Amino acid sequence: MRQHVNPLSRIHQLARPLPPLIELFADPSLPLHLDIGSARGRFLLAMAPLAPQRNHLGLEIRRPLVEAAEADRRRDGLTNLRFLYGNANVNLPEWLVHLGAGQLELVTLQFPDPWFKLRHRKRRVLQPALLLAIAAALAPGRRLFLQSDVEALIAPMRQLVEASSAFELAGPEECGPELNPLPVATEREGQVLAGGLPVHRSLYRRNCAPLPPLADLEGRLEPTAGSTDNRLDAAAD
Ligand SMILES: C[S@@+](CC[C@H](N)C(=O)[O-])C[C@H]1O[C@@H](n2cnc3c(N)ncnc32)[C@H](O)[C@@H]1O
Repeated sequence: MRQHVNPLSRIHQLARPLPPLIELFADPSLPLHLDIGSARGRFLLAMAPLAPQRNHLGLEIRRPLVEAAEADRRRDGLTNLRFLYGNANVNLPEWLVHLGAGQLELVTLQFPDPWFKLRHRKRRVLQPALLLAIAAALAPGRRLFLQSDVEALIAPMRQLVEASSAFELAGPEECGPELNPLPVATEREGQVLAGGLPVHRSLYRRNCAPLPPLADLEGRLEPTAGSTDNRLDAAAD
C-alpha cells in the first residue's frame, strides 16, 4: 500500500457530508475526540474502551486503512468509535460546523506526514484554514494535542498554533518529551520510541480569544524556506 497520498489530488477534493452522529455512535450526545490521520486505527481502537465517556472519530485519507480499522471496530463491538474516509483540509471545516456547541472535546494530530520538500508544503495537513476551523469548534478549555518525531515539522505547527493567539500551551507537568498526556501510544509513536528517538509533543487548550481572519493569520507566519530538507522526502516522490 502507498505510504503517502497527495491530499491535493482531485480525487481527494470532493465534498462529503458528515453522516448524522446518530448513525455513527450509540450515544451521539457524548463529547467527541477527533483524531486526524488515524491511519490503521490502532490508537483509537485502544483509546475508545479506555475513554467510554467520549465518542472517538478517526479521519483518514487512505480508504483501505479506514476499511481495515472499521472491520476491527466492528469485531470489537465498539459503539463509541468510528473511522471515516476524508481529507481533513477539504472535509473537516464543514464537518466541524455541524457538531453541537461544545461537543468537540479533544483534537489529536499525531505524527502527520512531514512533506519536507518546499514545493510539497501545501500537502501538510495543519494549514492555517484547518487550524482556524479546529479553533472555532473547540470551546474554551478544550484541548488540541500535537506530536511528531520530526522537529522541522512540529516547529511550524507550533508556530501556527501560537500565531493564532487562540490557544494556551500546557505546562511540562502535563505534556513533554517524556510525558504523553494520553494513555495510548500511536503506531508511529511506538516505532519512534522503540527506536530510542525523541518525540516532540505540545498540548494546547483553547482560550477565549476571538479568531483572527485567515489572511491575518497567514501574514503572521514566518517563511519556512530555510528549513527544507529534501533528502528525507525523496522516497515520497
Ligand atoms: C504518518 S501517519 C501517522 C498515523 C498515526 N496518527 C500515527 O501516529 O501512527 C499520517 C496519517 O495521516 C494521513 N493523512 C495525511 N494527510 C491527510 C489528510 N489531509 N486528511 C486525512 N488524513 C491524512 C495519512 O494517510 C497517514 O495515515
